[in-house]
Amino acid sequence: MSREATDPVVAIDGPAGSGKSTVARALARSLGWTYLDTGAIYRTLGWLAHQEGVSVDDEEALVKLCGRLQDLSFKWGEDGVLLVFLGDRDVTEAIRGEEAGRWASDVSRHPGVRAALLDLQRSFARRGHLVTEGRDTGTVVFPRARWKFFLTASLEERARRRLREMGMEETPRNLAVVMEAMRERDLQDSTRPVAPLRRAEDALEVDTTDLSPDEVLAHIKQIVEGE
Ligand code: DC
Repeated sequence: MSREATDPVVAIDGPAGSGKSTVARALARSLGWTYLDTGAIYRTLGWLAHQEGVSVDDEEALVKLCGRLQDLSFKWGEDGVLLVFLGDRDVTEAIRGEEAGRWASDVSRHPGVRAALLDLQRSFARRGHLVTEGRDTGTVVFPRARWKFFLTASLEERARRRLREMGMEETPRNLAVVMEAMRERDLQDSTRPVAPLRRAEDALEVDTTDLSPDEVLAHIKQIVEGE
C-alpha cells in the first residue's frame, strides 16, 4: 500500500458483484469504523430522478436534485443489512437491483453530478476511520486512503451472486439477462470520461471468483490490521 497515503480510510473499488459491499460492510462492522456505500448515493439519486420524472440525460436538473441527498442517512438493520433513508423514507428496497443500478450508472456519468456529490462523500471521513466502496473511491474521492483494494471476479460469478442477492432462481435465462445488464453497466462505468471505474495504481487487486466472503474478509482484514 502507498506509504505516502495518510487518511485512515479503506477504499474498496470494483465492478458490480465483485463482493465489495459484503466485505466492506463486514469489515466496517468488525472494526467498528464508519461505513460509506457510495453506490447507494448514486442509486438514490437515480431513483429520485425516476420518481420526479427527471431525465437521466438532464445534467442541470440532476445537479439540482443532488441537494436533496443531504438528507441521506444509513443505519444498520438486522443481520448487518444496511438501511438507506432519504429523510425519514426508507429507500433500501427501492434502490436495490439491476434496474436501479442502471439508473445510478446513468446519472453518475455526468461530471456536474459527481462534483456535486464529492463533499457529501468526503464528509463521512470527518467522523474518523472509514470503510468505503464504489468505483472511484481510491482514485478520486479518497486518493490519500491508506488502504486501497480493487476487487474483481468473473462476469458469470458476479451475475450468480446478484441473482442470489435478489432471491432469483439461477436459470440459464435469468443468468444471461443479469450477465448482459452487468456487462453493459461495467462498460458504461469504465469508459466514461470522468472518474471511470479503474484500479488505482496503488490499490491491491483481489480476484474473488473462487473465494468465499469470509476468505475475502480475512485477507483484507489481515492487511488492514497488519499496518
Ligand atoms: O456499487 P453499485 O452497484 O451500488 O453502484 C451503482 C452505480 O453507481 C454504478 O454502476 C456506477 C455508480 N457509481 C459510481 O459511479 N461511482 C461510485 N463511487 C459508486 C457507484
